[in-house]
Amino acid sequence: MAQSNDRPRILVTGGAGFIGSHTTVALYEAGFHPVVVDDLRNSREDVVAGMERIIGAPVEWHRADCGNSEAMAPVFSQPVAGAIHFAADKAVGESVEHPEKYFDNNIGGTARFVAMLREHHVPHLVFSSSCTVYGEASQLPVSETSPILPAESPYGYTKQACEQLLWNAHAAAKGQLGVAILRYFNPIGAHPSAEIGELPLGPPANLVPFLTQAVAGHRGPLTVFGEDYPTADGTCVRDYLHVCDLAEAHVAALNWLEGAKGELDTFNLGTGEGSSVKEVIASFEEATGEKVPHQMGDRRAGDVTAIYANPIKAKEKLGWATKRSLKTCLADAWHWQQRLSQS
Ligand code: NAD
Ligand code: WQD
Repeated sequence: MAQSNDRPRILVTGGAGFIGSHTTVALYEAGFHPVVVDDLRNSREDVVAGMERIIGAPVEWHRADCGNSEAMAPVFSQPVAGAIHFAADKAVGESVEHPEKYFDNNIGGTARFVAMLREHHVPHLVFSSSCTVYGEASQLPVSETSPILPAESPYGYTKQACEQLLWNAHAAAKGQLGVAILRYFNPIGAHPSAEIGELPLGPPANLVPFLTQAVAGHRGPLTVFGEDYPTADGTCVRDYLHVCDLAEAHVAALNWLEGAKGELDTFNLGTGEGSSVKEVIASFEEATGEKVPHQMGDRRAGDVTAIYANPIKAKEKLGWATKRSLKTCLADAWHWQQRLSQS
């Protein structure tokens, strides 16, 4: 493997983002040399300092658009043992307003980055996909062979298109590029040190960052989007997993690729358990002792009723399963919010 200080060099595009920063820490702790590439379009430079405080060592990072081969030249000036491609735009609502931006960065950027990997003979790629590719699944839990339905948003479509691109690039590379496509369910939480976490810029669209900001008094009450769904308590059900568990799955995927000799495979990453919005609120209150100010509201357009993973394949092939409970996720998200509120 390509080494740096005896550690294999792993490119982490979007490595200053929410999932990328936790994965960078997990890679370092597992003995890799993570090389962060991020142009900070949805992050801040102080995330790098947070990672450095956790690992107690400098992080190699490059402020660059990973789809720009000129900007990426210094990154490839030393051999690269593998890449994890997180960099993408991820706001579902914004993708409806500005589909061109999402097609360009998520699909075009991935195509250009994959071409660079092939040119530089990088043997392994881990890709961030999403449970959004399943849409409103007719059978739960969803397994990797569940149907891929027409995308509900341009964002969702970009994940489906990138998966297709990777199948085609993998075939073209004739065994020279192993690929792990990881379909994340709903990552939440933060590093237990509260040095890194999610940085929503503007009002958060996602449940947990909105909830923690509402509890901290930075927002009005949380609106629960619909309580007339055909679920046990009428609110939508999702599979929430701790971002540190998710980070560890990327290390497991790289290790699997090392033995897989150029294969491509797809893995669901979730806990296997669904939780309703009301259960998340109750669990947060139990975990933290804080009351969640909330009100019932209308359904949000585009929300699926319920989705949770069958995570057996990841357990069998990657040796990975989640370890942290929903309460731990929510307690860590709250500690991170408290840290953000102080800064
Ligand atoms: P994030 O926005 O926190 O992180 C993405 C990072 O990529 C940001 O730091 C951003 O500055 C950077 N970036 C974007 N485009 C770039 C480019 N062209 N060049 C360099 N840097 C660029 O998002 P996240 O939540 O960490 O998500 C990471 C990946 O996981 C994304 O691909 C996202 O679509 C996918 N995903 C996220 C979730 C979720 O709920 N967070 C769920 C499923 C899949
Ligand atoms: C969770 C639940 C809401 C906010 C999104 C993307 C998906 C994936 C993960 C990237 C839902 C409810 C939310 C609020 C609420 N991302 N909710 N009040 O919608 O499952 O998935 O992020 O790939 O593609 O669509 O996550 O956190 O937005 O919502 O009641 O203020 O919380 O209706 O049931 P979602 P979310």
